Amino acid sequence: MSETETDKDAPEFDPDDPRLTRFDLVREGARRDGVEIVHYQPRFTKPGSKEEKRVVRFVALCFFIVGLAALAFIVAYVAWPWRYEPGSNLNKFYTPVLGTTLGLALLFIGIGIITWAKKLLPEEVSVERRHDGASPDVERKLTAATAVSMVDELGIQRRPLLKGAVALGLAPVGVAAIMPLGGLIKDHKSDLLTTAWKKGVRLMHDDGTLVRPEDVSAGGQITVFPAIPGGNTNKYADSPTLLIHLRDADAERALSNALPINKGAQWNNYLAYSKICTHAGCPASLYEQQTNRLLCPCHQSQFDITNNARPIFGPATRRLPQLPITVDSDGYFVATSDYKVPIGPGFWERP
Ligand code: FES
Repeated sequence: MSETETDKDAPEFDPDDPRLTRFDLVREGARRDGVEIVHYQPRFTKPGSKEEKRVVRFVALCFFIVGLAALAFIVAYVAWPWRYEPGSNLNKFYTPVLGTTLGLALLFIGIGIITWAKKLLPEEVSVERRHDGASPDVERKLTAATAVSMVDELGIQRRPLLKGAVALGLAPVGVAAIMPLGGLIKDHKSDLLTTAWKKGVRLMHDDGTLVRPEDVSAGGQITVFPAIPGGNTNKYADSPTLLIHLRDADAERALSNALPINKGAQWNNYLAYSKICTHAGCPASLYEQQTNRLLCPCHQSQFDITNNARPIFGPATRRLPQLPITVDSDGYFVATSDYKVPIGPGFWERP
């Protein structure tokens, strides 16, 4: 028998008949959609039974765990130390802690939903036939009744414990989902544009002693750090600088080659360049005093020290930034400003 014939033979159906229960509407709606509900039975014959309460408590517990795990994710995302700190290994656990807490939240969402569906929703067996075409108005009404009935079947109205657990458990999950966006909001540009050097900061050796011109012999070079607390630690990893003492002829050449941005940066025969390679950030400190070339050991970039540290070989395409220096009244080297351009690769879009 075709579907049209079935509908024609069926007794007239009035969805506003007060004698009909909501399930009658649901069954009729399903029938008109070509779905025959052949078996329907609530999971618990006596609502509010001990067994039902036990399952409800378990599902609620799942959602509470979801909430706690998501909360732990949020706290770890914001407060867990993720930078390397000397003497601490906590940063190594940053990613595992985030993964574990988020994983637990998602796992218990799954366990909660599956238990809810398998143990609390009514048992139902339906047979569906397919049909084409749009649904008439009456069927839309029936569909709406079906949707309301489904929400009712979830039992969330008469199980306040579950309602609270779902709200408490899933709210932190929503927050956890948007937390990582915070990392996209912070503007890191100022971090990339500046270092610890600024006007008046003296140059110091790795052992903390201040640097005088006589500490570097002609043709030699040393690594110097800003003389501020922690200036020679990883906290200021962008600040190590190479102080080079050129021979007279080389110093004159460097002076005459100085680009406008590097004018005044050289003090007598001494000049200072950032040690961070502009290719990928390795420490470039192999100084060849015969050729006045500075070599980076990572990918063999070479920089011409007497010509504004111009790259002359290898993958680096940008000059090493020059640090303007002078000697103060006490005879110590001092910076006269920060670098004029960002040090190292600086920005990820740069070669
Ligand atoms: S990091 Fe220096 S050449 Fe690649």
